[in-house]
Amino acid sequence: ALGAFSAMEKGIFVSCSAGNSGPFNFSLSNEAPWILTVGASTIDRKLRAVAVLGNNEELEGESAFQPKDFPSMQLPIVYPGLNISDFRAAYCTPSSLNNTDVKGKIVLCEIGGGTTRIAKGQAVKNAGGIAMILLNIERQGFSTAADSHVLPATNVNYEGTQKIIAYINSTSTPTATIVFKGTVIGDKSAPMVASFSSRGPSRESPGILKPDIIGPGVNILAAWPISVENNSNTKSTFNIISGTSMSCPHLSGIVALLKSTHPDWSPAAIKSAIMTSADIVNLSDTLIEDERLVPANIFATGAGHVNPSKANDPGLIYDIEPRDYIPYLCGLNYTNRHISVILQRKVNCSVESSILEGQLNYPSFSIMFGSSSQTYTRTMTNVGEANATYTVNIVPPQGVSVTVKPPTLNFSDLNQKLTYEVTFRRLDTASNTTNSHGYLLWKSSKHSVRSPVAVFETKL
Ligand SMILES: *[C@@H]1O[C@H](CO)[C@@H](O)[C@H](O)[C@H]1NC(C)=O
Ligand SMILES: *[C@@H]1O[C@H](CO)[C@@H](O)[C@H](O)[C@H]1NC(C)=O
Ligand SMILES: *[C@@H]1O[C@H](CO)[C@@H](O)[C@H](O)[C@H]1NC(C)=O
Ligand SMILES: *[C@@H]1O[C@H](CO)[C@@H](O)[C@H](O)[C@H]1NC(C)=O
Ligand SMILES: *[C@@H]1O[C@H](CO)[C@@H](O)[C@H](O)[C@H]1NC(C)=O
Ligand SMILES: *[C@@H]1O[C@H](CO)[C@@H](O)[C@H](O)[C@H]1NC(C)=O
Ligand SMILES: *[C@@H]1O[C@H](CO)[C@@H](O)[C@H](O)[C@H]1NC(C)=O
Ligand SMILES: *[C@@H]1O[C@H](CO)[C@@H](O)[C@H](O)[C@H]1NC(C)=O
Ligand SMILES: *[C@@H]1O[C@H](CO)[C@@H](O)[C@H](O)[C@H]1NC(C)=O
Ligand SMILES: *[C@@H]1O[C@H](CO)[C@@H](O)[C@H](O)[C@H]1NC(C)=O
Ligand SMILES: *[C@@H]1O[C@H](CO)[C@@H](O)[C@H](O)[C@H]1NC(C)=O
Repeated sequence: ALGAFSAMEKGIFVSCSAGNSGPFNFSLSNEAPWILTVGASTIDRKLRAVAVLGNNEELEGESAFQPKDFPSMQLPIVYPGLNISDFRAAYCTPSSLNNTDVKGKIVLCEIGGGTTRIAKGQAVKNAGGIAMILLNIERQGFSTAADSHVLPATNVNYEGTQKIIAYINSTSTPTATIVFKGTVIGDKSAPMVASFSSRGPSRESPGILKPDIIGPGVNILAAWPISVENNSNTKSTFNIISGTSMSCPHLSGIVALLKSTHPDWSPAAIKSAIMTSADIVNLSDTLIEDERLVPANIFATGAGHVNPSKANDPGLIYDIEPRDYIPYLCGLNYTNRHISVILQRKVNCSVESSILEGQLNYPSFSIMFGSSSQTYTRTMTNVGEANATYTVNIVPPQGVSVTVKPPTLNFSDLNQKLTYEVTFRRLDTASNTTNSHGYLLWKSSKHSVRSPVAVFETKL
């Protein structure tokens, strides 16, 4: 955050991973408001590997290793975690399979236990196993990984895990095979939030909604410095990996494109363009879901999924000057010494103004309900057509009333700035556990400028 502040002051945009500690609330990192905080979503490509059980049940899964010659006959399956009290065997940690007969069998391995998915495959292979089925645990839900495995393998979702465990419990001779179906493009559930993608609210500054955005971060195919199969005679140095470390560079690339078409835009202006134009629906035009296949929470998606073409022409932007962060930091009650460390120069909050977090000119709202009513102002800069009339559409979070003054903004010039005031009032009928979301949408004949609104209890 300190380095990013100095970079931002010099007009350098900083895009960071939200973290891979999801799906738990408050699991974010890199949440400073001068940083773009990026969560991870799926893309519409699946690398299918279907586990077919002895009872003919088919379980969807994924693998980047797609052998052409894997036999289609049923093979015995073994679940080392079932009988052996040593939990390491359930996770197929290295050399944990010594006391299990896995030779010639398909081995079921649970994800986790400090061993990577690929290393589990290596352990199975070393012990003589013929293939592996990786079992998602509950919190991973429907998020699956297509890894470059060292043996035939598939990663099934948690529904698949439950089915396969019920199946092996139902027979003394459980069998399965894996059918590799290759690459399938056009998965309409994309973009879907990955289970590992870290979630808000932000601990450090709950009045700023984080993450800001989600972008492609699951099963990303990219160049890799070494051969993944240790083959020194190949130049095919590619790999597939997942993580918010894959999604934040997607956003960096998009920022570079936006910077080239709008060289005069500040880092905050570019962030605003990305956030207010983001998509909130999946490819089948319904709300973006998370790993449980339920509509994703705003603390998982932030403003939504990045839409680069729309971000290039946002209509309006919420800009922030570097000096605007001083009243924000003073309002967080940081000491003068702490703020001076961030700014790399002396600051005295007694002579600076101080604002609530929600008053920073951010493109989103994160409202903690302690008091009954909160009012903030926002200033928008016109970067679309010189003459444009924008009218606000409000979708209030449940249990909250939202009023905006004025409800119409008439721009008559490029780079003109106009200000509005928004008041959030808790309704008497709201339950004590209000945690909901909505949005403000400023619409002109050409543009839609959307600001997400999150509302939550301080003790979420
Ligand atoms: C996060 O908080 C929400 C709202 O209280 C709750 O519904 C959800 O279950 C929480 N998620 C986790 C993973 O704890
Ligand atoms: C589990 O134990 C039962 C009975 O003790 C045995 O029949 C079965 O083969 C064992 N399964 C595995 C996977 O070791
Ligand atoms: C498994 O076998 C390997 C090689 O023989 C040995 O090094 C390792 O200690 C054994 N592990 C366990 C858990 O018995
Ligand atoms: C296995 O089957 C038994 C008897 O039908 C049942 O009680 C038990 O809950 C099952 N266990 C699992 C993990 O499905
Ligand atoms: C897209 O999301 C909606 C829910 O918002 C869901 O019903 C639909 O199944 C998703 N699309 C696909 C193809 O999964
Ligand atoms: C590749 O080779 C390196 C160095 O010899 C070794 O450390 C590593 O375990 C090998 N990886 C695989 C997947 O065999
Ligand atoms: C900062 O201190 C003031 C005065 O004590 C208090 O009202 C306010 O809630 C504090 N702000 C934060 C973000 O802790
Ligand atoms: C900060 O400003 C206040 C009010 O002018 C003054 O009393 C105080 O000495 C200043 N602190 C520092 C460290 O300069
Ligand atoms: C904007 O509208 C005003 C008044 O209607 C007009 O004078 C002006 O030429 C228009 N500007 C542009 C760029 O169209
Ligand atoms: C904007 O213009 C419309 C008509 O074009 C008018 O009704 C409205 O009052 C104006 N709003 C403001 C805030 O000036
Ligand atoms: C909310 O909490 C207060 C005090 O804790 C309680 O008196 C009130 O009945 C609660 N309201 C609702 C709607 O649950």
